[in-house]
Amino acid sequence: MFSTLRKATTEALVNLYEPLARPFLFGLDPESAHHLTLGSLKWAHRSGFDRLMAPEIASQPVEVMGLKFPNRLGLAAGLDKEGSCVDAFGAMGFGFVEIGTITPRPQPGNPKPRLFRIPSAEAIINRMGFNNPGIERGVENVRDRKFSGVLGFNIGKNKDTPNSQAIDDYLIGLRAAYPVADYVAVNLSSPNTAGLRDLQDEAACRDLLLRLKEEQEVLGRRHSNYVPIVIKIAPDLSVDHVQMLAGVFLETEVDGVIATNTTIARKFVEDHPCAREAGGLSGAPVTDASTAVIRVLAEKLKGEIPVIGVGGIMNGHDALEKLRAGAQLVQIYSGLVYRGPALVRDVLQSIADYDALARRAS
Ligand SMILES: Cc1cc2nc3c(=O)[nH]c(=O)nc-3n(C[C@H](O)[C@H](O)[C@H](O)COP(=O)(O)O)c2cc1C
Repeated sequence: MFSTLRKATTEALVNLYEPLARPFLFGLDPESAHHLTLGSLKWAHRSGFDRLMAPEIASQPVEVMGLKFPNRLGLAAGLDKEGSCVDAFGAMGFGFVEIGTITPRPQPGNPKPRLFRIPSAEAIINRMGFNNPGIERGVENVRDRKFSGVLGFNIGKNKDTPNSQAIDDYLIGLRAAYPVADYVAVNLSSPNTAGLRDLQDEAACRDLLLRLKEEQEVLGRRHSNYVPIVIKIAPDLSVDHVQMLAGVFLETEVDGVIATNTTIARKFVEDHPCAREAGGLSGAPVTDASTAVIRVLAEKLKGEIPVIGVGGIMNGHDALEKLRAGAQLVQIYSGLVYRGPALVRDVLQSIADYDALARRAS
C-alpha cells in the first residue's frame, strides 16, 4: 500500500515537470529560474522530499578510471557551480555529479543578462563566464557530502590570469580539490573566458597536462590515493585537431576526456533572435557535433583512455548514441532544463536495457 502510494507520488512529481513546473520556470528570466530551481532542490533535500524523485531503476554500477560509478549518468559541470546541491542531485538518481567550474579566486562572471533559452530548438546560450565562489568555498561545500556516487570537481583559471600563467591556476585548483574530489576535470573549453580554448593547442595542452600529471603523482603520495585527471574539450575542433589532442592525451597519460563543452557555432538556431548573443550553445543543436567528436576520440584512444560523452542528450536514445560512439559515461545539463527529472529516468532505463542486451549478446 505504502509503496504503491510512494510510486504514484513519484510518478506525479516527475511527470509534472514538463506540463507545470517548466511553464512556470520559463516565465521567469533564465538565471532567476536557475536559482529558484537550485533553492527548491536544497529545500526538497532538507525535508526529504527529493527521495520521491529517485528513479526506481536498479543501480547499474560500472568501473571507469578505477572509480566505481553507481550508474553511467552524470550531471554536467555548470549547473551546480558551487557544489551546494550534490546530495540533492544524487537523490535524483545521478551516478556522478560534476561541480564547477571553480577558479582559484572567487569571481562574479560576466554582466547580466548572460543566459538565454531557445525553446523552439531545445537549446540554451550562456556566457556566464565562470561565476563562482572560489576554490576554498567550493572545497568546503562538498567536504561533508552524503552522496555515495562519484564527485567530479571541475577547475578553471581566473579571467584575469593570462594564459602564460594558466598552469599556476590549474595547479592551485588541483591541489585544493584533490583531497575532496573523486576526479578532477580540467576545463580547457569554455568559450566565455577569453583565450581559454587556446590551451587546446598542441604545445600548450601538452605542457599543462605534463605539469598536472607530475603534480598528481606528488599529491597521490601525500594523500595516499589516486585522483584521476580528466580533460574537457570543445566540440568546435577539426577532426585533425581532435586526433592530435588524442595523441597528446595518450602521450601524457591523462585519465579521461570529457567531450564536449558548448559550441560557438549557431547551426539549427540561425534564425532565432538570441543566435546573435555571444556565448556557448548547448542542448539539441549540439547533439551530433558532440557525438562526432566522441567517435573520433574513441577511435584514436582505443579504449586506453575513457571518454565521458556530453552534449545535447535530450532523451535515452541520444545517450545511447554517445555510448555507441565510444563513451563509457554520459552527462546532461540542458536536457534537464527542458525535460526535468523524467530525463534522468529515461536515460537510466535506456542504458539499463542497452547494458542488459550487451550482456545477453556476450
Ligand atoms: C548555463 C551553462 C553553464 C555551463 N557552465 C559550465 C562550466 O562552468 N564548466 C563546464 O565545464 N561546462 C559548463 N557548461 C557546459 C556543460 O557542462 C555541457 O558540457 C554542455 O552544456 C553540453 O551539454 P548539454 O547539451 O547537455 O547542456 C555549461 C552549460 C550551461 C548551459
